Amino acid sequence: MKNADRVHGADEPFAFNAETEALAQAAINKYPEGNQRSAVMPLLDIAQRQCGGWLPVPAMEYIADYLDMPAIRVLEVASFYTMYNMKPVGKYFVQVCGTTPCWLRGSDNIMKVCHDELGIKSGETSEDGMFSLLEVECLGACVNAPMVQINDDYYEDLDSDSTKRIFDQLRAGETPKTGSQVERHTCEPIGGMTSLEHQEPARAESVAGKGDS
Ligand code: FES
Repeated sequence: MKNADRVHGADEPFAFNAETEALAQAAINKYPEGNQRSAVMPLLDIAQRQCGGWLPVPAMEYIADYLDMPAIRVLEVASFYTMYNMKPVGKYFVQVCGTTPCWLRGSDNIMKVCHDELGIKSGETSEDGMFSLLEVECLGACVNAPMVQINDDYYEDLDSDSTKRIFDQLRAGETPKTGSQVERHTCEPIGGMTSLEHQEPARAESVAGKGDS
């Protein structure tokens, strides 16, 4: 489920709709009877998407009632993780990883390109509502550093040119290539695999022998 186009108002009452109600029930059903509160994180994500990318207070209160838990516990979870936005964000939410592997590979430069191209600093949203920018900790794609997450997609192995190109394409309504921005297949070594290319001969014969019997 992608973010809804309409951004929910801060004081607007919230309730799941038919689609999000079904998603919420599916998330709750993954947990044993009596442990429905464990679904608080997926429910916050579902609510955030329904609200157009952020979590107004009425949405968090609704989830607290829905899961029969104190509202403060829901707020504690929502305010701890950077995946939840406590204020509205732009159409494209750009999260720049600044943790050590990305930093060593040039994340400061990527953040500078974001500042220059988007005209905003970390924590800000552009006046036209198109982009929000946030520096975050490791997003788990360190081997393809430096990288950014934009909405649900990762863009990896970035440099100045590829970062600018992605923003240009988003502005033009195009869909930029996700993943590595260099000639690398997923996170294999640049230049191709260097190990596990061939089956070890003795092992290959042994496997073939088993198949014959
Ligand atoms: S350090 Fe940037 S993705 Fe892990």
